[in-house]
This record gives sequence, C-alpha cells and structure tokens, in this order.
Amino acid sequence: MKIGIIGLGFVGLSFASVLGAKNHHVIGCDSDKTKVNKIRNGIPPFFEPKLEKTLKLALKRGLSLTDDISKIISECKLIFVTVGTPQKKDGSIDLSMVKAAVEEIGRCLRTTRNKPAIVIKSTVIPGTTLDTLLPILNKKSGKKVGMDFGLITNPEFLRESMAIDDTTNPHVVVLGGAKDKFMDLIRKFYQNLHSDVPIVVTNNQTSELIKYTNNSFLATKISFINQISNICQSIPGANVEDVARTIGLDPRIGPLFLNAGPGYGGSCLPKDVKAIINFSNKIGINPVLLDAVETVNDYQLENLLLTIKKATGTLQSKKITVLGLAFKPDTDDIRDSVAVKLVKMLLKKGAKVTVHDPKAIENAKVVFKDEVTYADSLDDALLHSYCGVIMTPWREYRSIGERHLKLMKKRIIVDSRRMLSEHRLKMRYYPIGIG
Ligand code: UGA
Repeated sequence: MKIGIIGLGFVGLSFASVLGAKNHHVIGCDSDKTKVNKIRNGIPPFFEPKLEKTLKLALKRGLSLTDDISKIISECKLIFVTVGTPQKKDGSIDLSMVKAAVEEIGRCLRTTRNKPAIVIKSTVIPGTTLDTLLPILNKKSGKKVGMDFGLITNPEFLRESMAIDDTTNPHVVVLGGAKDKFMDLIRKFYQNLHSDVPIVVTNNQTSELIKYTNNSFLATKISFINQISNICQSIPGANVEDVARTIGLDPRIGPLFLNAGPGYGGSCLPKDVKAIINFSNKIGINPVLLDAVETVNDYQLENLLLTIKKATGTLQSKKITVLGLAFKPDTDDIRDSVAVKLVKMLLKKGAKVTVHDPKAIENAKVVFKDEVTYADSLDDALLHSYCGVIMTPWREYRSIGERHLKLMKKRIIVDSRRMLSEHRLKMRYYPIGIG
C-alpha cells in the first residue's frame, strides 16, 4: 500500500523517514522545490537528532519525493496532511496552508478512481475538519466522504529533538472520524506499525480537542512550577528543584514537565495555548485558567530581565552574554524562543549582546543580523562579559568553571535553568527558583 505525506516539516519529514526506513512505500510531497531537492539528496532542511540517518536509510528503501500532489492522490491509499498551522496576529490559527493543501487534494480527487483515506495530522482547532476542510473537499472533488474518500483526524504528539524516537514509539495514536472502511484501513495500518501502542478512536472534533488539551496541559504544568519557582525565589534557601522532584514522586502528579525556567517557547505550546484561548472566547467559554498560564509565562521573562538588572545595574553599553538561543536543547529551532525575546529586550535597554548556541547560530543570524555578536565558543562568549545568562540548558553549559569566570569583566551568572547550582564557584550567582 502506497502512503502519501503532504508537507515535509518536522512532523511530515520525520514520519516519512521512519516509514520509509521500515520499507513502507512512501511518497513525500512539499510545495517548496528547493526543500524537496535537499531532502531527495538526504539533507534534512533543519537539525533534528537521528533524522539524517533515518532519512538516508528511507531513501534507500521506501521513500521517494515529489512536488506534485496529483501523483499522491492518484497512487496512495493513505494520504497524510502534515502542513503547518501557524498563528495569526490575534492568536487564532492560520489555516491557509492546510486549506490550500486540501483544495489541491480535492481538485485531484475529481479526476482519479483512487479512493484514499485523507488523514489530517496538522494541528487544527475543534470543528475544522468537518466544518472547514470537508466542505472544501466536497466542493472541489464532487465526491462523497465515506464512499469515495475517507476523512480522519490524527493529531501528532512528537517532540522536536525527539522526533524520530517519538514517531517510532508514540505513547498513543488518536484517530478521529466516522467508523467506516477508511477508519478500518488506518487503524490496521497503525496496529501493524506499533503493536503495543494504545489506539484511541473517537470523532473528528474530539480528536482535534485532544491535541490542544495535551499541549495546554503541558503548558499548565510548566506555568504551575514556574509560579512555585517564583515563590521559592522569595524564600531564602528554598529550592524549586527539591519541590519539583518531591511532588513528582506522587504518581498522581508525575515527574515530567516540572522544570522551572524562563517560560515555555517553541513553535507549538505558545501557539496552541493562544489558539485554544481564542477559540474558547469565540464560543463563549471564559478560559481563566489558560489565561493565567499565559500570564505566568510572560511574567517569567520579565522576572528574568529584572534579575539581570538587579545583578548588573544599568545595562547601557554593557556586554551581556546570552547562552542558548534554541527553544530547547538538541534543536536549531528558535521559533518563539524565550531566549530570542530576551535578546530583543536587552538590545532595547542598550546592552551589547553576545549570543552563543551550539546549533542555532545560523537561524539567529537571520533574525538579529549585525545587531548582536555571535560567539563560536564559550570562552569567546564570556570574554569581558558583565553577565552570562543561561537560557537553553545545553549540556556544555554545565562545564562553565573558574577558567570562564576569569575571562569575564564581572563574575555574574544568571541561570534560568539552575545548571550551575551544585558548582561551588566564586561568582555572583542568580539561579531562577532558588531563594
Ligand atoms: C510540544 C509537545 O511536548 C509535543 O507533545 C507536541 O507534539 C508538540 O509540542 C507539537 O504540538 O508539535 P515541543 O514544542 O517540541 O513539543 O517542545 P517541548 O518539549 O514540549 O518544550 C516546549 C517548551 O517548554 C520549551 O521551551 C521547553 O524549554 C519548555 N519546558 C518544557 C520547560 O520550561 N519546562 C519543562 O519541564 C518542560
């Protein structure tokens, strides 16, 4: 059975590579020809651990590439839509890419005898599949859902930096749609792919909501521990690490996503919390808790800036070093990264900012151009610096020691991730979450 994947970002390319490497016959499609060419040559357009190796194996085995959707619609039985759904200025979801993909699918369906299941993996607000995408498919194809094509919502839960492992071993598969022959087909496909993974079958709108519930619950956990972290910081000697580790032992709470820090970032959590808030307001539900989750998240960065100012006095013309720009370690992704926001704030205050990141510097150059200095090494980054601010918990920042502090103009470290809290270094140390 041929499988088509439309949209080769993190989700689509990881999925296509994992399936191809497992000898599935997969056709990956993206409208960006340059990207398609890179991928065809085994070069992922972004950094993701294990992706390049998996992609290269997939290209040798079952994966081929195209920029022509019609090939997929006429040949594939399962067609996954994995295009991006970014956010608009008002926080609502931007459906333009998914609508454009579905329009094209509809047009191609009109002229084929193939009867595929169309599977929406892109994150979409509840109601989108049936109220927005289905009418487009009906109109453009002139065909009937449930007879000529299936329409299933299948949200994705993979994490960047773990995309290959999460695609290979997901914690759950969620399928939303009518219980028809197309649902049987995709359920069997997933049963064969992952023998021990629970498969939840529900309707389209519930599966769409599950995705937002998942991400907004994760964001809530982070904001909760960040709130506690701020309380800790005001109690001399209190330590959020011990609090988080201990409550995490309660099986009703669990240990994950309790790392206090500068607030959550990335291309998903901030966008999805905003989108569900926007959606709730539209349907007359006041999202008080989720509003608070956002407020706490925004406050984290303000609190960090206040801490930097407390440590350095005026920022005007001082060299401040921001360590880590990626929104988390093991990725070069700086979309909605809190560190990028911090750099912008520091520049506004007149600081001379030097940035360091093991993977994200090329992406940072596109944003900051010559507004900041780019350091290749920790030594360069901290040389003559007034203050080092640890933002992304890259492993190498644990190696900061006397050698680096000696290079600095002032031995001041603001540590949003408490990476140096166990080190006994001679410095003025401001860890977030430790009073
Ligand atoms: C998130 C979800 O975790 C995935 O399940 C989901 O599939 C994905 O969004 C998506 O919707 O596509 P991701 O954006 O890759 O994944 O990143 P996370 O690992 O969730 O981290 C998000 C942010 O939260 C990062 O800025 C991270 O530093 C922060 N974080 C995470 C904390 O500050 N503390 C924690 O304990 C955990």
